[in-house]
Amino acid sequence: MTFSFVFECVRQIWTFRGRFALLAMALLMEAAYYLGSPLLYKFIFDEGITQGQKDVLIWAVMVLAGLLALQSLATFAQERLAGVLGMKVMNRLRGRLHDKLQQFPPPLVAARPQGDLIHLFGADVAALEQALVRAVPPLLLHSLIIGASLVLLLGINWILFLITMAVLPMAVLVPKLFANRASQWEGNHQQAKARTSGFIQESLATLPVIRLFHLGRRRERDFAAHLRRLDETGARAYLFGGLVARTAILGTGVTQLVVVSAGAVLAVNGQMTAGLLIAFIGLLMGIAEAVGMLTTAIPLMITAQQAHARIIAFLDEEVPSQESDDAIPVDNLRGGIVFDDVRFSYDSEHTTLDGLDFAIQPGSRVALVGPSGCGKSTALSLLMRFAQPQAGQVLLDGVPIARIAEPSLRANVAVVLQNALLFNATIRDNILAGRPEASEDDIIAAARAAGIHDAILAKPQGYDTLVSPVSGALSGGERQRIAVARALIRRAPILLLDEATSALDPASEQVVNDSVTALAPACTVVAVTHRLASVVDYDQILVLQDGHLVESGRHDDLVAQGGLYTQLWTRQQGMATAAPTDGQSLITPDRLALIPFLSECSRQTLEELSRLFVASHFAEGQHVFHQGDPGEHFYVIARGCVQVVVPDDDGREQVVNTLRDGDFFGEIALLRDVPRTASIVAWADTWCLSLSSQQFLRIMQTEPDLHARVLAAVRAVVGDE
Ligand SMILES: Nc1ncnc2c1ncn2[C@@H]1O[C@H](COP(=O)(O)OP(=O)(O)OP(=O)(O)O)[C@@H](O)[C@H]1O
Ligand SMILES: [Mg+2]
Repeated sequence: MTFSFVFECVRQIWTFRGRFALLAMALLMEAAYYLGSPLLYKFIFDEGITQGQKDVLIWAVMVLAGLLALQSLATFAQERLAGVLGMKVMNRLRGRLHDKLQQFPPPLVAARPQGDLIHLFGADVAALEQALVRAVPPLLLHSLIIGASLVLLLGINWILFLITMAVLPMAVLVPKLFANRASQWEGNHQQAKARTSGFIQESLATLPVIRLFHLGRRRERDFAAHLRRLDETGARAYLFGGLVARTAILGTGVTQLVVVSAGAVLAVNGQMTAGLLIAFIGLLMGIAEAVGMLTTAIPLMITAQQAHARIIAFLDEEVPSQESDDAIPVDNLRGGIVFDDVRFSYDSEHTTLDGLDFAIQPGSRVALVGPSGCGKSTALSLLMRFAQPQAGQVLLDGVPIARIAEPSLRANVAVVLQNALLFNATIRDNILAGRPEASEDDIIAAARAAGIHDAILAKPQGYDTLVSPVSGALSGGERQRIAVARALIRRAPILLLDEATSALDPASEQVVNDSVTALAPACTVVAVTHRLASVVDYDQILVLQDGHLVESGRHDDLVAQGGLYTQLWTRQQGMATAAPTDGQSLITPDRLALIPFLSECSRQTLEELSRLFVASHFAEGQHVFHQGDPGEHFYVIARGCVQVVVPDDDGREQVVNTLRDGDFFGEIALLRDVPRTASIVAWADTWCLSLSSQQFLRIMQTEPDLHARVLAAVRAVVGDE
């Protein structure tokens, strides 16, 4: 622990001067008792007892009683004032931390280890509070007692004082030998605690995955490693912390022994009175007690200093400025959007947006489409000003987005994120978050527009149903629609949708799409979507590839161009989720021919294959299959979204790919006896068309090259294993 930290604590308390002055008075009153009582012993012994002066005895005892009464009052006042001041300082700090967190662009917060932030806001803040309330006042009091006692000791007898000074430093220096290591191990221990709580946090968040993948054992093993580290760091932190305290007590004991012996010699030689010797020893014992009290306060201060350092480091972290110095408020934007040669990368190695250039007219509906990873969400992120381009600029109504003051930017842009993040509050409050002053009628209108009103009324508590941030009683589709209602109620001139309808069933999706259509011309809509059928009537479709615009126009024109959009579009055609009434197959032979390893099959084979596909439905969170399962089916996604999940080197499940409408997976099942190399989990309600491997093997006998082509396709995905 350093003095600068104690000084910093006092500086923080000093901001509340009035109460701090009262606290200082209470501390002085308590110190007066500890310093005054040994001095009174001198009069009691030398004049009262030795010389038989009764009036001195009465007077001294009365002063002693008065000091005791004041000291008791002072301790009560101290408890009260320390609590009040501690909470004031801490709440101001909590407020600063919370404000700081709000300043960070969300992607930067998401990129941090969550356990660290939770530890910072939980344990670190608590440690500092403990120190301010329980350690700083005793530290001030006992330092004062020690300092004043030393002056009094010098005044009583300088020879005995020098002898004391020769031995007393031992009581301070020996503990110091251990203090550094105590501080270091305390830091390690706090870090281990942060990691452990991060791990528990992760376990809570991924509980369903742990259960479904049967990862309990592995998690236990990983947790045991965290516990071992806690064990090691905790044992050492407590050992060295304890050694600091114990050696200090031992040191003062040795000092007392030396002083009593030397003092007795001086008294016998007539160089000091017995009463003065008793006062001297009394003061010295007071010092010992004060040192003892300090040693209980010091470990709290050591922990708090580490915590404080982390808190300050966080508060001092530079937040990349999203707003230029000359930012101005902008009332009601018309909703014109321009990306002017925008370049952006998350790191120095990859360019994510590479000269993205487009213009969106106010009031139009525009779709941003393209293969996975082409930069659609990144472009939206720049539109939300969560990140800034490294070159080029984004303009809203001709104003560079960096020049729009934060409140007006947020008032003008409503967003539905891909993962509907809802608050732990009622459905009503979640929708109201979009516009807090909205009326009950507005809420209902927004919920209707998002196609969720009836579903809300069907719940026993209706709009008062509680929503938890991560799961709860709502399905993914319901959560997504509440997020849509929250955005719609905002009535902002710009609405950004990132896969806002990906988890919705066709009927709900239609309701949301109709509502979005009805927003024109007051609102510019920019929708990122993989489901091209939902944007065929949009005013403009921007097709992105590798971070730049490759095609743009209306649906019909783009389909006629025969470029990337046509490819994406045809991949999503020719599939049905329920068997058509006219006895047609669920997937057309033409659509099957788009699957690379089937493209060279004869027409007859394709027709035969198309009749063998059956539809299967997977609810959100359900497994299509697990890694290691024997492969039995090959799947094409007719509608929905699945995640490809494999364990990484540490055994943690990693989402390696997301597949959507028109994508296929599980071709490994079409080879004999090869287990699944990854697990597939439905991310939204998903309809797949599946082909059984047994039936495929039968067909493969009629197409001699087919086996080789499937083998090549599987090798391209999973390598040569
Ligand atoms: N926070 C990040 N840090 C580093 N790279 C990122 C980050 N977010 C995205 N990327 C990378 O940037 C590229 C574009 O990602 P982006 O999310 O914008 O794609 P997308 O078009 O929205 O894809 P999808 O259709 O799968 O949602 C990808 O290669 C992705 O891996
Ligand atoms: Mg995306």
